[in-house]
Amino acid sequence: MNIQDYDFSGKKAIVRVDFNVPIQDGKITDDTRIKGALPTLKLILDKGGALIIMSHMGKPKGKVKPELSLKQIVPAVSAALGVPVQFADDCQKADAQAAALKAGEVLLLENLRYYAEEEGKPVGIDKEDSAYDAAKKEMKAKQKDFAKKLASYADCWVMDAFGTAHRKHASTAVIADYFDKKDVMLGLLMEKEVKAVDAVLNNIERPFVAIMGGSKVSSKIGIIENLLGKVDKLILCGGMTYTFAKAHGGEIGGSIVELDKLDVARNVEELAKKNGVELVLGEDSVCCTGYDFSTFSVKPGAKIETFNSSNIPAEFEGLDAGPVSREKFAKAIKGAKTILWNGPAGCFECEDFTAGSKAIGEAIAEATAEGAFSLIGGGDSVACVNKFGLADKVSYISTGGGALLEAIEGKVLPGIAAVVGE
Ligand code: 3PG
Repeated sequence: MNIQDYDFSGKKAIVRVDFNVPIQDGKITDDTRIKGALPTLKLILDKGGALIIMSHMGKPKGKVKPELSLKQIVPAVSAALGVPVQFADDCQKADAQAAALKAGEVLLLENLRYYAEEEGKPVGIDKEDSAYDAAKKEMKAKQKDFAKKLASYADCWVMDAFGTAHRKHASTAVIADYFDKKDVMLGLLMEKEVKAVDAVLNNIERPFVAIMGGSKVSSKIGIIENLLGKVDKLILCGGMTYTFAKAHGGEIGGSIVELDKLDVARNVEELAKKNGVELVLGEDSVCCTGYDFSTFSVKPGAKIETFNSSNIPAEFEGLDAGPVSREKFAKAIKGAKTILWNGPAGCFECEDFTAGSKAIGEAIAEATAEGAFSLIGGGDSVACVNKFGLADKVSYISTGGGALLEAIEGKVLPGIAAVVGE
């Protein structure tokens, strides 16, 4: 069913959103995900429906953890919606509150992951344990009951949690079994995200340039391999640079490296060559002798210098793209018509190491102004775009991290499959 065509009048809609927002000292530090869900929530209220909103926050793994309570976001959601939001302290015991809801009213359920049933994985038992299979079977049965309970609160289910759509959880997928097909639908945010993914997966305008950053080749290899079959140019930056440099015998000092992935790096280069993809790697790096990753700061007395990325002295580690790399990246992005960026080029949290990510963000903004479609995804790249004031200069900022990567890898997301079929 299409959400625009659905008659919400006098009905209760249970909506799965991803309100897993970062919170520091009780304050939401990035409300992109709340803002992202608003069009769907407002549409349902405007059409005369009542809202039951559900989400997870963090990974409490079946335990009640007050610091992960969704109660702390009630004021922000109320302000964003312009409607007072009621709160149910227990997502499985909200029958009375849900039943009493009237058109235009809103109820937010407590963190779904306070129950292990949401994820449907047995807790406290090792996969190797002989009793694991039986525990898993039992948990799957409990997960169904859990989903059924959530479904019992409402007349229809709306899936709008793109950030969690890669999880086959009770509220993101299993719940669909307890509604008539005509009463399950994707929300407006999901529709937008799917369209954005489609633009870089199936509807590509060339040249297509992808920029993959972050620290590990291993966590990105699936998407890198997939992109090598699609892009014209692939920029690999961030900590991955040093695994590639090492794969060619480079001296990388104390830089981050995956020594067991040197073959993987070489294979990526081979595959790029085979597919006629221009692989763009950083040549130089801004390096430091003492960086504190816990406080994102340079230790007193530490030195910062720029070196060739394959010739870094032992006491230094590479933390950002150097000037030559930055120029190379910007040149590769110029003229692109489709752009995908996931993962920063350096430790952008510290002012001394922002230049690489900033150069990439600015080049993307420029290309976008010249007509490119640019999609930015993943918490850190989105934080970069916001930090550099470029958010309104790119085409689309995804609310998905892992979900976006899996979608671009070409995987079917369970949260989508539950609505539209495999
Ligand atoms: C995210 O932040 O990527 C989503 O909320 C999904 O969270 P998860 O990785 O804990 O499932």
